[in-house]
Amino acid sequence: MIEKIADFIRSKIHNEIPETAIILGSGLGGLGEEIENPVYIDYKDIPGFPHSTVSGHKGRLIVGRLEGKSVLCMQGRVHLYEGHDPASIKLIIEVFKSLGIKNLIVTNAAGSLKLDMPPGSIMLIKDHINFSGRNPLVGPNDENYGPRFPVMNNAYNASFREKAKSIAKQQNITLHEGVYLMVLGPNFETAAEIRAFQILGADAVGMSTVPEVLCAVHCGINVLGFSVITNYGTGMIEQTHDHAETLRQADLAAANLTKLVRCFIKEN
Ligand code: HPA
Repeated sequence: MIEKIADFIRSKIHNEIPETAIILGSGLGGLGEEIENPVYIDYKDIPGFPHSTVSGHKGRLIVGRLEGKSVLCMQGRVHLYEGHDPASIKLIIEVFKSLGIKNLIVTNAAGSLKLDMPPGSIMLIKDHINFSGRNPLVGPNDENYGPRFPVMNNAYNASFREKAKSIAKQQNITLHEGVYLMVLGPNFETAAEIRAFQILGADAVGMSTVPEVLCAVHCGINVLGFSVITNYGTGMIEQTHDHAETLRQADLAAANLTKLVRCFIKEN
């Protein structure tokens, strides 16, 4: 199945061999529009490929050039809260591996757990807490991709993080760094949950990213991750949540994140 999907994608992208894949989160799809010489492949047109249903998420792969480098971009991801099997996410990442992807840049929209990291901030992900209760690596392990018990001590590649921090400095972009905690969703957290997550050592909370990162690390793909902070966690300030607001706040930081990602790709 994985090889079949990889062959299908290869047949559409001619001689482009991307080394870097980028997964664009809620409201961050704009970077996909900047890809030059793009080939678009809708997820629904790829036999066996899972597709997304949330508004604000386009469901397509874009293969083309960014800063002169060949990239593969997922404009819209699949979320476990949509009812997708975690295995769907493993399949996507293993397809990337089969295509020759070496680096994965993941982005997401997240809620802040720190008052000094307001909406509109960008957080470089240093590490994660998998609070989703799910793991895409559960099940038989294919040793061709990675070990049964993968280690997670450098899940968010340390040298990539150093590079991202130095680019942010050069570009005058404020870059926070912290721990991302994944909940399954689809509901936003209660105030009690937010307080609990703060005590656990998390800095941001969201409903994605961790499954992709687990699979990428498993199969030896280097990961760089960013959260765009769209709101404070429930109960931290007087506010209400809504999906439209999430998308609006993501726009504010998306321009800076786009700049960061472009520079990273150029230098990498
Ligand atoms: N919680 C979970 N996921 C999110 C949030 C949040 O506050 N904001 C954006 N995605």
